[in-house]
Amino acid sequence: MRILGPFAQIITLKHLICNGPINDEALEVIGFGGIVVENGIIISVGNFDEIKQQFPDSEIETPEVYGVLIPGFIDCHTHICFGGNRRMDYAMRLNGKSYLEIAESGGGIYSTVRQTRSISSDDLYESLKQRAIRHFHEGVTTIEIKSGYGLTIESELKMLDAINKLKLNSDFDIVPTCLAAHMKPKDFEGDEWAYLAHIVSNLFPELKEKQLTNRIDIFTEKTAFSLEASQWYINKAIENGFDVTVHADQFTSGSARMAVETGAVSVDHLENTSESDINILAKSGAVCVALPGASIGLGMKFTPARKLLDAGACLAIASDWNPGSAPQGNLLSQASILGTFEKISISETLAGLTFRAANALKVNNVGRLDCGYKMHAQLYNTEDYRDIFYYQGALKPCKVWTN
Ligand code: NIG
Ligand code: FE
Repeated sequence: MRILGPFAQIITLKHLICNGPINDEALEVIGFGGIVVENGIIISVGNFDEIKQQFPDSEIETPEVYGVLIPGFIDCHTHICFGGNRRMDYAMRLNGKSYLEIAESGGGIYSTVRQTRSISSDDLYESLKQRAIRHFHEGVTTIEIKSGYGLTIESELKMLDAINKLKLNSDFDIVPTCLAAHMKPKDFEGDEWAYLAHIVSNLFPELKEKQLTNRIDIFTEKTAFSLEASQWYINKAIENGFDVTVHADQFTSGSARMAVETGAVSVDHLENTSESDINILAKSGAVCVALPGASIGLGMKFTPARKLLDAGACLAIASDWNPGSAPQGNLLSQASILGTFEKISISETLAGLTFRAANALKVNNVGRLDCGYKMHAQLYNTEDYRDIFYYQGALKPCKVWTN
């Protein structure tokens, strides 16, 4: 058993609720705090002096910095496994080119598919690992990572193998997701229904047998999969025992509503969700995931985070880190910027980056600094937790603990 401390502040998030608005008075701030850890699990949190009296035989570890301790972030939506880059798309977008024009000149998701198929497994793994380590140093201790740039059975498996290898070899937590339904690949002969049926028959059994993931994602959009075909696929995934998450309402509306009515655990993007669907999502029990990195990367409006919270939704915030729409990948910076535009309180932002994001991934032992939770925590060199958001990502954690 070890006592860590003292800390200027420990933000536990112990009693914060999972749905709807949270005002900053609800935040639990323990001044001059200490935390007791055994085998990577939190045993007790409280005033440092009291903790020392309660656990007199414990070894004390005093961090070099007297700062603020908060839970590690949970990034519940990323695409950080990919080959190559999309700098050409970016430059074309800045010159006013449309999505279609970019795709026609060899850009878009399919250009990353080509680059990911052609990179070696070792290089794919190495670049994935570097991105995950960068994320970890920025305080992200649980990272969801999607496939979706392979789009053949073989190359989707290559991606999921790399993601699972990282899961096995890292100190932080990795949650793999299969996004073989990112778009119908250009070299597949047959329509979207035939492609999805092919994935269900030939990839789902492999995912189960090799235990590569229990999560399935689909991009429902005019340029990807139709509402009807997506609904069929989501039902198949649920029948096969997978949890489902959906890229919904990014450019056109209607898919998020279909997804929650069909049984999705989370609906992500929602930049174009209609007023009436906001209420349906909020009451559905699904987690609504805002992806400000994609709004910043594409120069488009943010997810209506304030309206979702006011309607009672469980709002998580994730980076969507990917080579196309969200190449920046700095989750804290993006969440802070979303906060300023959408008027999201610090407590709501922190909840969206921690225990509310945990709900999207159905993991229940991370996201709070409380008894029984994993000691996934990050320390900032400041005496006031508000600085973490005030500096919009410029203040980085000086130490991160996991497992
Ligand atoms: O979440 N919306 C679809 N998929 C990704 C973009 C992927 C890409 O452009 O490579 C997203 O934004
Ligand atoms: Fe995405």
